[in-house]
Amino acid sequence: MAFVNEDNITELALRRWGTAHSPRLAQLMTALVRHIHEFAREVELTDDEWLAAIEWLTATGQLSDEKRQEFILASDVIGLSMLVVQLNNRFSPTATPATVLGPFHIDGSPPVPFGHDMSDGLPGKPLFITGKVTDTGGKPMPSAVLDVWQADSDGYYESQIAEIDEARLRAKYQTREDGTYCIRTVAPLGYSIPMDGPVGDLIKKTDISHFRPAHVHFLIDEPGHHKLITHLFQDGVEYLDTDVVFGTKDALVVEFVERPAGPTPDGGQLDQPYLHATYDFVLEPTTD
Ligand code: BEZ
Ligand code: FE
Repeated sequence: MAFVNEDNITELALRRWGTAHSPRLAQLMTALVRHIHEFAREVELTDDEWLAAIEWLTATGQLSDEKRQEFILASDVIGLSMLVVQLNNRFSPTATPATVLGPFHIDGSPPVPFGHDMSDGLPGKPLFITGKVTDTGGKPMPSAVLDVWQADSDGYYESQIAEIDEARLRAKYQTREDGTYCIRTVAPLGYSIPMDGPVGDLIKKTDISHFRPAHVHFLIDEPGHHKLITHLFQDGVEYLDTDVVFGTKDALVVEFVERPAGPTPDGGQLDQPYLHATYDFVLEPTTD
């Protein structure tokens, strides 16, 4: 066994971690060792900086539980979450692009009919989102389920409000025979990511904007197609260019058109002005 010095330590660690029983684990661990040793060498990491990093990671873990995932937030703000999304969702250019899931999705949202108001009377400007779900060949997809969730018109999800313990502003809409859907809600506001933890502490030492632009989340998981996790962003709002989690994409920015009081896209009537966004979701078929 060779004794350790600055020059051979990386090679020794690579040999050790190369013994992982699964070839994939060996690949992951040796690449991690290579890159992290290279990082320490490049910045000449000091003892104090190494300890500060360990303390930051410890605090990040200690704040994480089933309600709050500070580690995922850390991954989001350094662009790692979005990079993993890109690597795993290489759809054709005509398919709707994917973006980050985020921490606020909940399983089991209620199925609701075409045009149902998922805001359930919450304050805010009424918003209709209508369009179709098709495959990349333009074939409409009947009975496709759009799992939808969003922040409220002040930029909060229910889990961020102490007095609220019921799910809200989330629902599952099903497309009709011709692939069309109609969502009614209130326009969400952009919001800050949680800034009261180690991720916030780090961001406060930079000029990074800690906001996300106003958006509505969608998850569409249909057999024979890649699961689509995405958002629609409101065109013209703040933070589109600086989304703290790198989630914005051109193809997902849509106009929320101002409409006067009167007929609505679900065939009803509203006695106040409202917003209307149209978007056709295009799913990428799986090859296997
Ligand atoms: C969200 O859009 O819900 C979200 C995504 C990443 C971090 C925080 C929030
Ligand atoms: Fe969100």
